[in-house]
Amino acid sequence: MKLLVVCLGNICRSPMAEGALRARLASSPLAGRVHVDSAGTGGWHAGEPPDRRAIACARGQGVDIGGQRARQLTREDFDAFDWILCADRANIRDVLRIAPSARRDRVALLLDWAGVQADGEIPDPYTGGPEDFARVWRLVDSAAQAVVARLVAG
Ligand code: 4NP
Repeated sequence: MKLLVVCLGNICRSPMAEGALRARLASSPLAGRVHVDSAGTGGWHAGEPPDRRAIACARGQGVDIGGQRARQLTREDFDAFDWILCADRANIRDVLRIAPSARRDRVALLLDWAGVQADGEIPDPYTGGPEDFARVWRLVDSAAQAVVARLVAG
């Protein structure tokens, strides 16, 4: 199973989701069997590490995301990954703009796909404060736990 988490800049939400997913998977029976990556619909931050506030927030929960580097979503990603899991509906719209028609049904909202919140979005914390990043962490970690449960259940 290969999962790609997508947000706008790939420096806040999707790196945090990637970190939470990797951590929850590593301590599960699925360790080593699920490939997780993240990307942004935009390429402005390509090559950069996550936002320092995102790094600090994850570190506070014992997860190191400082080694991640941002990249932009490509058409090749639709073949390389089983699911493209988006932070919000704007991401879905942008992803569908370049999605091959045969892969459109493999694009979903992360919180919805995980079963955490139907049609749920992860709010962009970029212009917010530490509490907004903390909220993102709670959401992506809930999603990560639910994804592990979903995949373990088969
Ligand atoms: P992200 O947050 O999509 O969660 O990575 C953002 C990061 C950067 C920008 C917007 C959102 N930006 O406009 O540069």
